[in-house]
Amino acid sequence: MKIFMTLMTAVGLIFIGHAAAEEKLQSIAVALADYLTAGRAVVADNQLLINDPSKGDKGFTPEAYEEQVNVEFRKRAGIDIKSLSPADDFGRSIIAIHDSAREVVAEAQPQINEPGKEFKGFIPAVFGKKVGDRFYRKSGITVKQTSLKFRGEYNKPDDFEAEVLRKLESSGKGNTYYEETRFGELRVLRYVVPLYIEQSCLPCHGDPAGEMDITGKKKEGYKEGDMRGAISVIAPIKCVLDSN
Ligand code: HEC
Repeated sequence: MKIFMTLMTAVGLIFIGHAAAEEKLQSIAVALADYLTAGRAVVADNQLLINDPSKGDKGFTPEAYEEQVNVEFRKRAGIDIKSLSPADDFGRSIIAIHDSAREVVAEAQPQINEPGKEFKGFIPAVFGKKVGDRFYRKSGITVKQTSLKFRGEYNKPDDFEAEVLRKLESSGKGNTYYEETRFGELRVLRYVVPLYIEQSCLPCHGDPAGEMDITGKKKEGYKEGDMRGAISVIAPIKCVLDSN
């Protein structure tokens, strides 16, 4: 908010339009982060099913994912995906990340449905990374999960994210961070929202710390409600959301 107010007093009318556009981009960034959080939660909720070696066909199809993410996203963001229109930037952005997620679940069907194997590598972090990559190709907007205690090198925070993560970890629960800044050549809006440990995360991230989880990595000993990391959004101020 500080940024908007300073700019408005400096340049007057011109920045009213600019601020409005930024506010719109900000609401897009918030909804994108909520969407990835919701999608990751759906995968976590289905983890036992996905890891069941006694089942072939798990029924965790793109349609099943869609139904569940609709509920989860409405709960978290208060938005009904089915009511969104591709005619505006907001609707187009959320539909694009939703399409990316359905594509990732569709592509993973052979992996998810492999019988006789317990751990198949389809977990919230892998899902999140793949959705982020696909969505980036559609939109030019980065949406990624990150953490100061990253297990996967691909989730490593950049300097900006590391500093913001430290701030968010030491500030109260429920805070988020955004800033208009530069990212290489681009002017971007950066938005960081904490990811908290839920019940479904505990088998891999909970107690006892140091014990191996099903993925072969060490559990961190987190408790429900602890900040595990964040979703980071990097949205170019002039981003193009093409429909393909
Ligand atoms: C089946 C085990 C499993 C479950 C369930 C799970 N995670 Fe993870 N999580 C992992 C693994 C493994 C990684 C590291 C990614 C990799 O190595 O590819 C990871 C990575 C992460 C990261 C990125 C930082 C890092 O360590 O690389 C965050 C943030 C995260 N998990 C949060 C959560 C949250 C929140 C939940 C619950 C909604 C959850 N995880 C559920 C296994 C799990």
